[in-house]
Amino acid sequence: MTRTARAYTNIALIKYWGKKDQQLKLPYTNSLSLTLDRFYTDTKATIIDSDQDVVYLNNKLLDASQNKRILNYLTTVRKFYSFNDHFQIDSVNHVPTSAGFASSASGFSALAAAISETKQLNLSRRELSILARNGSGSASRSIYGGFVEWQAGHDNESSFAVPIDETPEIDLSLLSVVINKHSKKISSTVGMENSVKTSPFYPNWVTLVTSEIKEIKQAIAQKDLQKIGEISEHNAMSMHALTLSADPSFTYFAPETIRIIQLIQELRQKGIFAYATIDAGPNVKIICTKESLALVQEYIEQQLSDVTCVVANIGPGIQYV
Ligand code: PMV
Repeated sequence: MTRTARAYTNIALIKYWGKKDQQLKLPYTNSLSLTLDRFYTDTKATIIDSDQDVVYLNNKLLDASQNKRILNYLTTVRKFYSFNDHFQIDSVNHVPTSAGFASSASGFSALAAAISETKQLNLSRRELSILARNGSGSASRSIYGGFVEWQAGHDNESSFAVPIDETPEIDLSLLSVVINKHSKKISSTVGMENSVKTSPFYPNWVTLVTSEIKEIKQAIAQKDLQKIGEISEHNAMSMHALTLSADPSFTYFAPETIRIIQLIQELRQKGIFAYATIDAGPNVKIICTKESLALVQEYIEQQLSDVTCVVANIGPGIQYV
């Protein structure tokens, strides 16, 4: 039995930053994202006659130190659904490493879907979202296209993503500005934990996210682009304030990150639509309209010589190929 699933990556406009349960990956707050069309993972799961799983990533066999997270995940899935089969997993990331997107969201979402299809578990998309969340929190959202909300919940069954608008007719594009191709030094898991434990502002973050989720959902329903941009940028900056105010303080920003934030502010002063969002790394994703996109890209490339820009639009949910 073999099945292949394709999942697209997503960018959080209201970030997930902090787990109340490490094991189950239950977040302190809801989060809200946009699925993107440019970057995806294709994962094939095949049941094999063996008592060990085998994992290939981008056609390379992973050794014991590289595939630990995936093997642990497969063990979790077997336990959840009470079966003993082992798999060969063939996963190919169409997330250019140079695009500055984490592949864990598309990766675990595609893996959950491929296993569920191969084992004919007949899962609903809600159950699939729960299964993906157990691999990586942000993967719970990649089950759906368009705007997606991950509802925090309080246990394994109540923490899943729901679609807000899977095919929004809205004039938004994303320009990813890549300034650093090296992998991040502080994983999101460690970064979140340090922020929760030591930032004096963490309780304020929980309150802020609760109100910003409400506001952005209203702005999405009204197709109020400026509101969506403003709320997203404010939320991203507030998340990074948690890392700066942690003890010891840390940051994902590189000098170029700050420079790009300033350039985005300059663009807005010129009346050009551009808002920043930044994940657990130095690269900046700029929320643009179709009209502002070329102007924003030109300005950034003019001011900074050593950057790569990648454009993405709104993408679909999980697919079987
Ligand atoms: O799902 P993880 O563990 O890779 O964490 C994702 C964290 C952020 O990308 C910074 C925010 C988010 O909601 O995607």
